[in-house]
Amino acid sequence: MAPSLRETSPELKEALEDTVQMVDKAIARLLPEGELAESTLYDAMRYGTLSGGKRLRPFMVMQSAKLFNVDPSRAKRVASAIELIHAYSLIHDDLPAMDNSDLRRGKPTVHRAYDEATAILAGDGLQSMAFQILAAPETHEDPYVRCALVASLADASGLHGMVGGQMLDLIGETTEFDLGTISRMQRMKTGKLMAFSCEAGAILGKAGDQYRRALTSYAYDLGLAFQVTDDILDVEGNSNETGKPANQDEKAGKSTFVSTMGKDQAKQRAEMLVDQAVRHLHIFEGRAKMLEELAYYVLNRRA
Ligand code: IPE
Ligand code: IPE
Ligand code: MG
Ligand code: MG
Ligand code: MG
Repeated sequence: MAPSLRETSPELKEALEDTVQMVDKAIARLLPEGELAESTLYDAMRYGTLSGGKRLRPFMVMQSAKLFNVDPSRAKRVASAIELIHAYSLIHDDLPAMDNSDLRRGKPTVHRAYDEATAILAGDGLQSMAFQILAAPETHEDPYVRCALVASLADASGLHGMVGGQMLDLIGETTEFDLGTISRMQRMKTGKLMAFSCEAGAILGKAGDQYRRALTSYAYDLGLAFQVTDDILDVEGNSNETGKPANQDEKAGKSTFVSTMGKDQAKQRAEMLVDQAVRHLHIFEGRAKMLEELAYYVLNRRA
């Protein structure tokens, strides 16, 4: 069946909903609350993480961990850590100096609900907390595993990953990129955090290299398809469903697959990437069903 025709199964729907609830609870417990002079910062961190979101990256962590029989209470900590990094990336992405966006997950962005300085600090605070969670003994009894998680997340979120990709994204507003450069940018800004999310289960479960490679290859293809779909939704999505303002990319003059090859070809590209992503999972002989279905969900999503 053509990938675009697949529907979300009840099983995937339920698993996604369970992840949303699990992550909400875990993050609410991990983030501080308080009556201190600086607790506006805590409020902003809670606001930026607990106001919706699909929780796809935590879903990838939980599902990849399941493949290697990892204790879910450990996987849950890694799932929370990646979501904190993702939330930080969105809070900074929305700032006036970057995408200058007023709406996120259907609500005012953090710098609109609070102020710019608080939004910058909330993002910074979430980032540090993510690494603190990974480094804590509750995440894994083996310090080598904890170090591997910290190193992998640092690589995925740093200059060779999300942050570097975001820099390219801004440069792409004034420079016309070719398709190769756009692919590289998307792989860095979106693919790398997803690759961490899928690899995390294998790191926690001390899985063999072939499994680690299969999961990261899946995540890179899926991440690219995910960002292409995000760029398509920017053009043809409904702000009530996406929770973000429409047509932001064109207004800012961003270089995207849509701006370069047009919407229809971009859709075809995303379908091809999803098909390719799923093939990397064959090594799991049907045990990675939820991750397979997630790939089609990413393609067909409206939000
Ligand atoms: C939005 O990510 C940012 C991109 C990488 C395109 P999501 O679409 O996963 O955002 P939430 O977490 O569901 O709001
Ligand atoms: C952001 O990409 C990716 C990040 C690393 C935060 P976008 O700028 O396209 O994300 P949205 O559309 O604002 O969610
Ligand atoms: Mg952006
Ligand atoms: Mg943006
Ligand atoms: Mg976008």
